[in-house]
Amino acid sequence: MALRFSRLGARVTLLDNGSRREIDKRLGTASLTRIRSLPERLGAWHDRTGRRIRSHDIDLAENYAALRALLSDCRPDIIVHFAEQRSAPYSMMSSEAGRYTVDNNLRATHNILSAIAESGIDPHLVHLGSLGVYGYCSAGLRLPEGYLPVTATGPDGREVRKEVLFPGEPDSIYHMTKALDQQLFAFHARFHGLRVTDLHQGVVWGTQTAETRIDPRLVNRFDHDRLYGTVVNRFMIQGITGQPLSVYGSGTQRRGFIHIEDMLRCIAYATRTPPNRGDRVRVINQVAETCSVDHIAALVSAQTGVPISHVDNPRREPEGNELDVDTSTLRGIGFTPRLFETALGPEIEDVQALLAPPAETTGPAARAVTAP
Ligand SMILES: NC(=O)c1ccc[n+]([C@@H]2O[C@H](COP(=O)([O-])OP(=O)(O)OC[C@H]3O[C@@H](n4cnc5c(N)ncnc54)[C@H](O)[C@@H]3O)[C@@H](O)[C@H]2O)c1
Repeated sequence: MALRFSRLGARVTLLDNGSRREIDKRLGTASLTRIRSLPERLGAWHDRTGRRIRSHDIDLAENYAALRALLSDCRPDIIVHFAEQRSAPYSMMSSEAGRYTVDNNLRATHNILSAIAESGIDPHLVHLGSLGVYGYCSAGLRLPEGYLPVTATGPDGREVRKEVLFPGEPDSIYHMTKALDQQLFAFHARFHGLRVTDLHQGVVWGTQTAETRIDPRLVNRFDHDRLYGTVVNRFMIQGITGQPLSVYGSGTQRRGFIHIEDMLRCIAYATRTPPNRGDRVRVINQVAETCSVDHIAALVSAQTGVPISHVDNPRREPEGNELDVDTSTLRGIGFTPRLFETALGPEIEDVQALLAPPAETTGPAARAVTAP
């Protein structure tokens, strides 16, 4: 996202405490693609484009003073808030991981809101929320974009109409933090007039973007482990390595998905159309399609020729669910997303190419190059 904004001509400042990399070290996991250090990545971007991105190692949950000072200094027009622990399975792994997810995510979000209010700046805050705040059951409804119209009867018998935040039922501690974030945004929008857009995003798939393709040092993460690897990544790796696709339970669990390129387009759209001061928090459902796990498995199986194997579901989740999502905002701007049906095949080929050892390290020419 930082690279996309930089390409679009924005002056980008990046804040990250490296916690995702630390979690990898603790779990003994790693991205299948090689992820360079942040300075190396930003150096590669500068080499290729001449554009500079500044970065600061600041823990947004712990170092409020540094965050506030930086915001007062930069006075950003737009803040895109990604900085949260993002794995639902990780948040459910242990009491410690759950408590870390709550402490980190809620404090980071609240510190950003407080720092904006305290420094008297007026940026548009765009938050990456999750479709999972609604819970994965639309119960006969189409999940609205954040707000549900309700009609209740007052004490005098008169009908009262209101729009309330959808009373979601998050299915993990991680999703609960995104649901609680909503309350923090609502309070600060009402109390301080902060301008906030909350993007209720589906599971992101896809590895490369137009910007990361320009240099191998810029490639994005590709996680395929059981905590951070999404179902799409895990099926792709099983397919590529010839192992049966392990579908949990019946595979009729439905989720919302969006390709990484479409995610960038949607965030860029959101930043161009800020709410006004005094508006309530704007919620956009950032989803390209909803799809069941067994359907994704069938597509990967057709592409790679490996069979599907149903295994006992190790997760506590409903066996199957309906999921009908209102995506009026994105449809309203003529958003035509990449869909699994046509884009999954090229993605599998992309991942295969990313994982193949580079030609120059295997052949005789490579030996000549690397020989002392
Ligand atoms: N990846 C998905 O499928 C998906 C889907 C819906 C929503 N989201 C949301 O989008 C955002 C980005 O997701 P991602 O997949 O790029 O995750 P990610 O883990 O790669 O990115 C989050 C970044 O925030 C940093 N961070 C975390 N806590 C921090 C703190 N206290 N201070 C400073 N930096 C901190 C991490 O080091 C990491 O680099 C997250 O908020 C996530 O919840 C992701």
